Order: sequence, then structure tokens, then C-alpha cells
Amino acid sequence: MLLGGSLLYFDACRKIILLSPRPLGEAIPMERTSRIPEFYKKPIEERRRIVAEFAGLTEEEVRLLSNFGNLDPAIADRMIENVIGAMSYPFAVAVNFLINGKDYIVPMVIEEASVVAAASNAARVMRRDGGIKSRATGPLMIGQIQVIGLKAPYYARALVLDHKDEIIQAANEVDPVLVKVGGGARDVEARVVEGPRGPMLVVHLIVDVRDAMGANAVNTMAEKVAPIIERITGGKVLLRIISNLADKRLVRSWVKVYKEDIGGEEVVDAIVDAWAFAAADPYRAATHNKGIMNGVIAVALATAQDHRAIEAGAHAYAARDGRYKPLSVWEKDADGNLVGFLEMPMAVGTIGGATRVHPVAKVALKILGVQSATELAEVMGAVGLAQNFAALRALATEGIQRGHMRLHARNLAIMAGATGDLIDKVVEIMVSEGKINFAYAKELVEKLSREGEADRKS
Ligand code: MEV
Repeated sequence: MLLGGSLLYFDACRKIILLSPRPLGEAIPMERTSRIPEFYKKPIEERRRIVAEFAGLTEEEVRLLSNFGNLDPAIADRMIENVIGAMSYPFAVAVNFLINGKDYIVPMVIEEASVVAAASNAARVMRRDGGIKSRATGPLMIGQIQVIGLKAPYYARALVLDHKDEIIQAANEVDPVLVKVGGGARDVEARVVEGPRGPMLVVHLIVDVRDAMGANAVNTMAEKVAPIIERITGGKVLLRIISNLADKRLVRSWVKVYKEDIGGEEVVDAIVDAWAFAAADPYRAATHNKGIMNGVIAVALATAQDHRAIEAGAHAYAARDGRYKPLSVWEKDADGNLVGFLEMPMAVGTIGGATRVHPVAKVALKILGVQSATELAEVMGAVGLAQNFAALRALATEGIQRGHMRLHARNLAIMAGATGDLIDKVVEIMVSEGKINFAYAKELVEKLSREGEADRKS
């Protein structure tokens, strides 16, 4: 294989040997192997040195990786394995959010331009009548226990349900702290599921996890009750793990947007038609939901949530009827105003996990001012709804590129040296002329600065 002008092949020991493509006889083999025993035990610097050597990193690249920014290297090293550095993302805030009558400044961490601006703009037109309404159900998570090898799975199901109290009691013994704060195992459900290897019994342990995301509590409980379920059913328990289809931990958010605030009934109709496209076509629904997740995940990142769990839950919920659908609904009410509703699982925590370990996540929660995981879920649902509205409004009217190009023009103007009022002037000219590139930004900055200078002297 020829890669970047070098010849790469795998030798018998599966090491990668890097050879120069020039006279083979002269090649000095440089051994590179990713088999590094006890890599995880080495100090961060040593790991970084090994990787730098492996990948041929420059000093500047190594320096970049070594910059942990606002994360203490010791904390980073405890959060995950094999740490060699940290990576910063922009931390922004969306403003204007009024949710359940309370004002919120919403921290967002995201790499995509326009998301934060879109959320703030949407929230601004949603402030009437107390703003966005949002309600989260109780923090109930599901632990799954898979039972196989059953001759009579329906009979086993009946036995499990008959032993509900014993199972709940055993589960609660493993987490007295959770029970003390009002949480704990609440219920047991059981289904016989037909699989490619025959029927199996799937037991669901329903746990109120209070302010935690809950994976640890639920997984521990599921493991604890597994032997009891084996004893009751005579089957073999295999998996004992949380379900990310958290359909007992939902957030519902809704809002009315007045037609006169968004350009009239024509715009309302266009947004409803845009939603109808997503309702009818999974290809569009995926993108529609991606727009919702732009907001939800940005808040999840800022507050150090398990964002993969939220994503998995959202998409599984969107497909719960056997067809992938949008998580939101947009309609026109009797007065011609736009009304929107979002429903999705929202498994988030304000205690435990990285939320309380990452110092910036703690600051994010303080900015949000939420008192519980339920309140955080309500905010995140509201942000998802606002983000969705912003995307549909832009798509159904001017298209999203105009806003994107304006932001791009702004970045170019700043890169070209514009400051203060000059930024807006340069942006206006570039956007109105449809000429958005760095060379033109530079030319305009120089020209307008010269003119400004001349004006000041005269
Ligand atoms: C882009 O990140 C998100 C959108 O594609 C969402 C949508 O199409 O609804 C604009």
C-alpha cells in the first residue's frame, strides 16, 4: 500500500513497517506498532511522547495537545483512559430563553456556527405568554435483564411478576442513598420477546433515579437481582443493562408563536408544510430531528451529560411505531398562530458522572440555575423545540445559507482585521454583493480603514 509517498505493509507480527518508496535496499525500516503494553499505566507525558513518535507529531502539535485549558490534567486522567491531552470547544450561551415563566441563560458547547444564534433568535420570539412550557415526567429509567434458555417463557413471566416485591426490595438494598433521597426501584415489568434464536424473557426493572442520569444505579441493581430472577425462572440471565430508550423519562415542551412575530400566516403555513415533509418522509425526519439535537446536545455537552445516551434514546423514540418520525409537531391554531410540541426521552443528571467532575460543567449548571435533573430536562426540551423552530423557519423562508453566509462573512471580516463597527460594514458589503471571501474582506478592511482615517483627519 502506498500512503503519502511511503510504502506501508504489515509484517508477520502485524507491525506496520514504514519504508521509503525509493531503492528498497536502502530503506531504513522504522518500526511502528500500536501494540503498547501497559500504555494506560504510563504518565500522560510519556504517553504523549509515544504517540508523538508514532505519528511524527511536530513540537507545535505536541504543545497543542499538552494544553489542557480549563481541565486539570489530573481530572482528565481520571475521567477516561490513555489520556494524552485535551481539546477545547467553544462554550457559548443562548440568551432570551423564558421557560415556564423563568428566565434562563443557556450554556451551549458546539462546533457548528449558527446554532447558538438561531436558538437565541427563536427564544426571543417565544417569550410571549410566559415563554415555552416544558414538563418532564418523573426520572424513571429502565434496567433490562435478559433471560434465556426457558422452556416455558410465558409461565416464567408470570412467576417474575408474582415476585415483584422481592425483586424490588433486593434492588433497593444496593442503593440505600438513592432510596433515602426518595428514589429507588419502583416496578418490575416482563415481556416475552421473539428473537432470531427463539423466545426470551425480558424483565424491566423500573428505577426512580432522582437527579442522576442513572446508568450506574440501574446497572448495579440489574446485576443484583439477576440471580433472584434465575432462581425464580430456572433460566439463565445474560445481559443486565440500562435501556437508553428511556420512554418513561420524557420531556414534553410546547409553545405558541404569534403569526405577526414571524412574518404572518404565510410563514406559519410554510413551517407547518416543512414539518409535514418530515412527518411523511424518514429521510427528512432524520434531518429535522438532527436540528432538534443541535440544541439538545449542545446543552448536554456544556453540562457534561452522556450525550450518546440522549441521542440513542431520541432516535429510538422517533422510530417507536416502526417508522422513523419527527420528534416534534407543528400546527396552525384557530387564530392562525403557529403552535409546536416536542416529546422525547431526556435522561440527564445534575449529580454523579462527569457533571460534577468537570469544573466547566459545574459552571454551566450554575449559569443555568437548574435545581434538579427534571428542570434540566425541561430546559433541554425547550431548547430542542426552539432550535427546531429556528431551522424550519429559516428553511421554509429564506433558506439557511443566508444566515450561515452572514456568520461566515463576519468571521472573515474579523480574520481580516476588522474591529468594532467596521465588522458590520464589511459584512454588509460582502453579503449584499454576494462576494464572501477572505481576499475581498481584507481589501474592504484596508479600504474602509483608509477612508475612516481620511475622514478623521479632514
Ligand atoms: C443543520 O445543522 C440542521 C438543519 O439541517 C435542521 C433541519 O434541516 O431541520 C438545518
